Amino acid sequence: MKRIGQVAMLFGLVLLLFPAGLPAAEKGAEHARKTLLADLHKEKQVSCTDCHGKGKKIVVDDGESQVNFNCVNCHGGLAKLAAGAKDKEHINPHSSHVGAMNCTVCHQGHQSSAAYCNQCHTFDLPMAGDSALGDPRPSRPVLREVERADVVVVGGGGAGYTAAITAHDMGLKVILLEKQPVAGGNSMLAAGGMNAAETKFQAAKGIKDSVDQMVQDTMKGGKNQSDPALVKVLAGNSAAAVDWLTSIGADISDVGRLAGASAPRAHRPTGGATVGPHITGVLKKNAEQRKMDVRLNSRVLEIRKDRSGRVTGVVVQGKHTGTYTIAARAVVLTTGGFSANPKKVGAYRPEYREMKTSNQPGAMGEGMDIGSQAGAALVDMKEIQIHPTVAAGSRILISESVRGNGAILVNREGKRFVNEMTTRDKASEATLKQTGGSAFVVFDEGIRKSLKQIDGYFHLGLVKAGATPVELGRVLGMPGETLAQTIEAYNKAVDAKDDAEFKRPNLTRALRTPGYYAIEVKPGIHYTMGGVKIDPAARVIGEDGKPVAGLFAAGEVTGGVHGGNRLGGNSICETIVFGRIAGAHAAGEAKALMTPKKGKGAPKPAAPKEMKKAS
Ligand code: FUM
Repeated sequence: MKRIGQVAMLFGLVLLLFPAGLPAAEKGAEHARKTLLADLHKEKQVSCTDCHGKGKKIVVDDGESQVNFNCVNCHGGLAKLAAGAKDKEHINPHSSHVGAMNCTVCHQGHQSSAAYCNQCHTFDLPMAGDSALGDPRPSRPVLREVERADVVVVGGGGAGYTAAITAHDMGLKVILLEKQPVAGGNSMLAAGGMNAAETKFQAAKGIKDSVDQMVQDTMKGGKNQSDPALVKVLAGNSAAAVDWLTSIGADISDVGRLAGASAPRAHRPTGGATVGPHITGVLKKNAEQRKMDVRLNSRVLEIRKDRSGRVTGVVVQGKHTGTYTIAARAVVLTTGGFSANPKKVGAYRPEYREMKTSNQPGAMGEGMDIGSQAGAALVDMKEIQIHPTVAAGSRILISESVRGNGAILVNREGKRFVNEMTTRDKASEATLKQTGGSAFVVFDEGIRKSLKQIDGYFHLGLVKAGATPVELGRVLGMPGETLAQTIEAYNKAVDAKDDAEFKRPNLTRALRTPGYYAIEVKPGIHYTMGGVKIDPAARVIGEDGKPVAGLFAAGEVTGGVHGGNRLGGNSICETIVFGRIAGAHAAGEAKALMTPKKGKGAPKPAAPKEMKKAS
C-alpha cells in the first residue's frame, strides 16, 4: 500500500513540477522531495506574483483562491493532470480528488506539504517540500476594521453548511468559517447513509418504519444515556431533512440498513454510493450558487460576549490575513468532534490514546474548548465511539453498509465470532479479543455489485481476492477449508433465515457469487458522542442551565443526542436536522435583535414551519 502510494505520488509530483522534456522522473521526484515548492518555482524563474498575484498585484486571501487559480492556469486542473499520468495502474491522487479539492490543500509553497494528504490517508506519501518541516508561519495580528455579519457559523462540515444555508435563505448576512484548507469536515468522509424514518423513499420501497421506532433504536443503541428530547427532535425531523436535501439537489433515494436499526432507514445515493462526499458536494454547490461568504483556513480563536453575557461575535485567525474580529448577532458552532486529537482522547479515555482514527485531521475538538470558554456546559465527554472496521494500517473506514449489504466478519482462524450487525461498541470489543486484535470483512461479487462505495476500497488497494472461498482463505494466510466451511454455514443460515449461532438480524444475501474478497480491519476511534450541551432549539446551554444568549450549536460538537454509543447513519441525520434548526433559530434571534421590541425581554427565535416538534 505504502509503495503503491509512493509510486503514484512521485509520479504526480513529477508531472506537476517537471512537464515533458525536463529531468528524468526519479531525479525530479528526488529533488522535489528535498525542496520547498516555492524554491522549485524560483529555480524555474517563476516569480512570487506568478503564483500569488493577479496581474502584478500580490493577492493572497485565506482561501488561497488566486493561488489555486494560478496553479491550474500553469499546470492544468486535477482532471487534466490525472489524464496525463502515464501510470494508469496505481492510485492517482489527482484523479481521486477531482472536483473536491484545491491544489494547495495538498501542495503548500512555504511549508511541508505532507500535512493534509498523509493525515487523511496514512499512506506515508512523499510530497514536494516534505523535507521542510515546521508549523505554518504564525499569523500576524492585524488591526483592521471589525467586520459585521448577522450570523457567523464556525465549522464548514455538513452541519455548518446546512446552518449557513438555512440562515442565508432567511435573508441574513452569513459568514461561514472553516479552519482547514478544505471544507467538508468529517461529513465528507461519511460512508453509510443518513438515517431517517417515515420518508417517501422508504414508502416507495415498501419499508415499514416509524419515528417512534427510530427513537427507540437510538435510545437503546445509546445505552439509554441520550437526552430523549433531542432524540425525538432527531427522529421527528429526519424525513423533512431528507426532503430538504432532496429539494436542493441531493440524491439519497437508496435505502440500506445499518447496525442497531430495526428497519432499513440509511438513505444514500442510488446504487449505494458513499453518502458524505455527495451530500457535502451538494451543500457546497448550494453555497456557491448563493454566492455565500465561505472562508477556508480561518480558525476561530474566541467567541466574544458583552457584559450581559450575550454573544457578540468571534475572533478569527486567517492563515494569511491575520487575526481579526467579526461582530455578529448570533454564532453557530458546528466544529465537529475530537477523534483526531490523541491528547484529548487520552485525557478522557487513556485506553484509546494510541488507537488510529477514521477522522479527518481537523477533528481536534477546539470548538468544544471555545464553546466552554464562552460558558457552555459540556456533557458525555468520556463517551468515545470505537468503530470495528477501520482498514488495518490506515484511516479508511470500511463502512457498516458493507456488512449491512451482507458481508461477514471472520477472525484469523477463518471463523465468524460476532453478530456483524450488533452495535459498534460490541462488535469492536469482540474484534479486539481476536488473534492480533483484527478481523476480516469478507464479501463476494454479489455484495460488491450491490454497493458502489466498495469500488473505492478496490481503488485504494485494500482488498484481497480469491476465485473461491478456499483460495481467499489461503491468500489471507488462514486455513482455506475453514473459511469455506464458515461461508457455507453462513449461507445455510441465510437460506433458513435464522442465524442460530450469532443471532444476526438481517441476513441480506448469501455469499455465493464468485469472486470472494476480504479487507483486514481493526477497531479505530470514530466518533465523540460528548460535547456542548444544547436544547431542542439547538441553543447552547450554560453551566447554570440557561441558554448562552446568541450561541447555537449542531453536529458532533454537541453532546446529548447519542448518549453512550451512536448508531451508524444518525450522524449525518443529526448534522442536517440540527444544522437546520440551529441556522433557523440563530437567524430568528438575529432578526429579532434587528427589531427589538421595548420591554419584551429576550427575543423569541422563529423556526421554519416544517420543523415540527416530535412528540
Ligand atoms: O460504517 C459507517 O458507514 C459509518 C457510518 C456512521 O458513522 O454513521
